[in-house]
Amino acid sequence: MNVITTVKDFRQTRAGFDRVGFVPTMGYLHEGHLSLMRQARRECGTAAVSIFVNPTQFAPHEDFTRYPRDLERDLRLLAVEGVELVFVPEVGEMYPEGFGTAVVLPAADEVLEGAARPDHFSGVATVVCKLLNIVQPTRAYFGQKDAQQTVVVRQMVRDLNMPTQIVVAPTVREADGLAMSSRNSYLTPKQRAAAQILYRALTAAQELLASGERHGDGLRQAMSEVLADEPLARPEYVSVADPLTLRELAEVGPRGALISLAVRVGVVRLIDNLLIDA
Ligand code: PAJ
Repeated sequence: MNVITTVKDFRQTRAGFDRVGFVPTMGYLHEGHLSLMRQARRECGTAAVSIFVNPTQFAPHEDFTRYPRDLERDLRLLAVEGVELVFVPEVGEMYPEGFGTAVVLPAADEVLEGAARPDHFSGVATVVCKLLNIVQPTRAYFGQKDAQQTVVVRQMVRDLNMPTQIVVAPTVREADGLAMSSRNSYLTPKQRAAAQILYRALTAAQELLASGERHGDGLRQAMSEVLADEPLARPEYVSVADPLTLRELAEVGPRGALISLAVRVGVVRLIDNLLIDA
């Protein structure tokens, strides 16, 4: 396993490989990340992973400094998975003195996570653009867990004619349905138990939709009602949106729906979603 901290060294080592499947991460790895790496290795032969807690996608009041980090443990997991290339740059390597470019997708900031977290997706798009240019992967793998991120990355790659193929893989969940996330480590045991309400709300809407309810308002209300049962959960939004435009739907139509929510449990902000076919 090659653990590399500079762009120059990464390019040199990468040149020794042909097809590469790439998984960008912020570390503190869990089964959701590892499933992406297995798929990358299976499909491309060689897996590359980046671990970089990207400061530009965190707002000043967010958790950049206390975001969980454990590089030693992460590297042990990557070695077990047979990952060949690991890119672990310092902030100064990615954003040196004089850095001055941003990739901006204005439409992303109008809905869902973009509306709740101004500038977040510009930070994500800029760092993913840089990472794709550095790693030059055949395919790059992203989790459905961060649904709007997959839409933003696909749009950027299409708009900027980037040659990498984007692959989106299903959300990996704990036994009670909670989507795996590095941020789950912030939860106290009581909060952790309460956090299963997110998946319960999503599946309630999914079942209602399957039973014939097509009204966005009815589905959103059903999620809100489930969430209201959990005193430790404070919903930020519940959404039934078009899977491509991410605009709220009055009626679920032939394109199906992205059902999603953001909920605070204590100070921890959790997101989850289900993508429903028509
Ligand atoms: P991070 O939150 O570390 O996630 C890295 C990748 O793992 C993302 O594509 C994310 O969607 C995926 N992932 C996280 N939890 C998952 C789960 N439970 N099941 C399946 N996939 C899951 O997302 C980021 O980092 C950053 O924004 C990044 C893309 C690295 C840019 O900084």
